[in-house]
Amino acid sequence: MDKFFMLSILGLLIASYGVAGNMVYDNIATLDELESLDIEDDNDFDFFEIPSWASERGGKVLVNVDSFGAVGDGVSDDTQAFQKAWDTACSTPKAVLLVPQDRRYLVNATKFQGPCAEKLVVQIDGTIVAPNETNNWNPKFARIWLDFSKLEGVLFQGHGVIDGSGSKWWAASCKKNKTNPCKGAPTALTIDSSSAIKVKGLTIQNSQQMHFVISRSDSVRVTGVQVSAPGDSPNTDGIHITQSTNVVLQECKIGTGDDCVSIVNASSNIKMKRIYCGPGHGISIGSLGKDNSIGIVTQVVLDTAVLKETTNGVRIKTWQGGSGYVQGVRFQNVMMEDVANPIIIDQFYCDSPKSCENQTSAVNITKIIYKNISGTTKSEKAMKFACSDTVPCSNIVLSNINLEKKDGTVETYCNSAQGFGYGTVHPSADCLSSHDKNHLLIDQSDDAKLAEPERQDIVHTEL
Ligand SMILES: *[C@@H]1O[C@H](CO)[C@@H](O)[C@H](O)[C@H]1NC(C)=O
Ligand SMILES: *[C@@H]1O[C@H](CO)[C@@H](O)[C@H](O)[C@H]1NC(C)=O
Ligand SMILES: *[C@@H]1O[C@H](CO)[C@@H](O)[C@H](O)[C@H]1NC(C)=O
Ligand SMILES: *[C@@H]1O[C@H](CO)[C@@H](O)[C@H](O)[C@H]1NC(C)=O
Ligand SMILES: *[C@@H]1O[C@H](CO)[C@@H](O)[C@H](O)[C@H]1NC(C)=O
Ligand SMILES: *[C@@H]1O[C@H](CO)[C@@H](O)[C@H](O)[C@H]1NC(C)=O
Ligand SMILES: *[C@@H]1O[C@H](CO)[C@@H](O)[C@H](O)[C@H]1NC(C)=O
Repeated sequence: MDKFFMLSILGLLIASYGVAGNMVYDNIATLDELESLDIEDDNDFDFFEIPSWASERGGKVLVNVDSFGAVGDGVSDDTQAFQKAWDTACSTPKAVLLVPQDRRYLVNATKFQGPCAEKLVVQIDGTIVAPNETNNWNPKFARIWLDFSKLEGVLFQGHGVIDGSGSKWWAASCKKNKTNPCKGAPTALTIDSSSAIKVKGLTIQNSQQMHFVISRSDSVRVTGVQVSAPGDSPNTDGIHITQSTNVVLQECKIGTGDDCVSIVNASSNIKMKRIYCGPGHGISIGSLGKDNSIGIVTQVVLDTAVLKETTNGVRIKTWQGGSGYVQGVRFQNVMMEDVANPIIIDQFYCDSPKSCENQTSAVNITKIIYKNISGTTKSEKAMKFACSDTVPCSNIVLSNINLEKKDGTVETYCNSAQGFGYGTVHPSADCLSSHDKNHLLIDQSDDAKLAEPERQDIVHTEL
């Protein structure tokens, strides 16, 4: 936030209340920290620039899957051809592994392993499709379809499609057919244990389960990727980030049957910019803390997003009984259209057939700012902060929130949540302060007025 604004709030508080309590300074410090939370978008890792392999053939070695016997008719098994083409491309410096356009390659679950020679480009212009039978899926690869690992400095790009042919997997899911056991299904595209990876322009659709997983990786840039699956396809998260750092997702359009983006344990420095989400379950941190596990996620920024007809907007979800923390998150410039739970923290998350019992430990949620979030909510509780009685949420900051329901009133629900607001906060979030007497809560519709010290009513505080 701008320093002038900060100082004017501080000045105002001191003028109005004499010596301000430490809490005020703490709040200002929290605000400053959250406002200045930034994650480098680019240039923090060296990357070679190749607009397209065709325009800069110089020095590039083209490795076309067709030259390794791929048929591309959507029926023949091209798995071996892909594996052989990979082995060649991976061991050749400056190789471009090409999946040509206007063809459909049927490929089984495959591990594409590095490390590879320098400057590998994977150019996907055609369609890669998975076998649609669940029965003869290689049991050794139960959770993967196209799995890339141990890569460094690799560019994935093209106008192609990665299609998981997931319909039979969805039908077999325990969420669709209660008589079936709950077991995991493959992820369409995985990038694991890698660094300095760029993914540009691809479409990933109809995955068996999650669409795109980024795991155990550092410095990953995903730009212009589209993800799509039916709104009722079970557990088909769009982009799932786990144990990864310095990940930027931008200009992604995601519509699925689960979270558009989910960020889970041991992830930090995650930035999402210009994201469109819908249908889906929203943009989530979590779930974390399942089965009494440790969950840690820090430094996450979402800047500019549209969520349309999703079941949640921006969400943090943790299971009872977990430990660890979520700390330092900024959700800003978000437009909600008919979203069921636009702003939600749920420390009672329970995605299991049995109901979950309350436990005393919980993942500690602190320093979360919501800024410039507006639009329409489907439910009355436009904002929901359902926090653990034993591990309250703290330093929840709301600024310029305006959520309306098409017909009816809106409200904020709080359980054991502490924080403050400034600027417009609608619905009002006075309940955020109920567990903390020393808080700063400013509920006003005009930021500029904050600089006017005579307006004492703008600071709703019990200092
Ligand atoms: C499954 O794939 C086969 C052959 O690739 C195709 O003939 C069939 O129509 C597909 N079935 C479904 C349900 O997509
Ligand atoms: C894929 O792998 C399975 C199991 O290893 C095998 O039965 C099947 O023939 C392979 N090819 C296709 C196209 O499913
Ligand atoms: C549910 O799954 C069982 C066992 O896999 C199968 O026999 C049954 O037909 C399925 N039910 C539906 C409604 O698809
Ligand atoms: C989460 O990550 C931490 C390391 O940061 C690890 O100790 C813990 O076991 C992880 N939790 C789960 C559920 O994997
Ligand atoms: C608030 O967010 C919207 C996008 O939802 C954006 O168009 C607008 O410019 C933002 N306002 C400010 C003051 O940043
Ligand atoms: C767990 O605690 C919350 C908050 O106190 C309460 O609303 C909820 O009913 C409790 N759930 C169970 C299963 O006891
Ligand atoms: C949660 O984290 C906050 C901020 O770091 C800390 O003050 C608080 O004591 C923690 N709560 C628990 C129950 O550990």
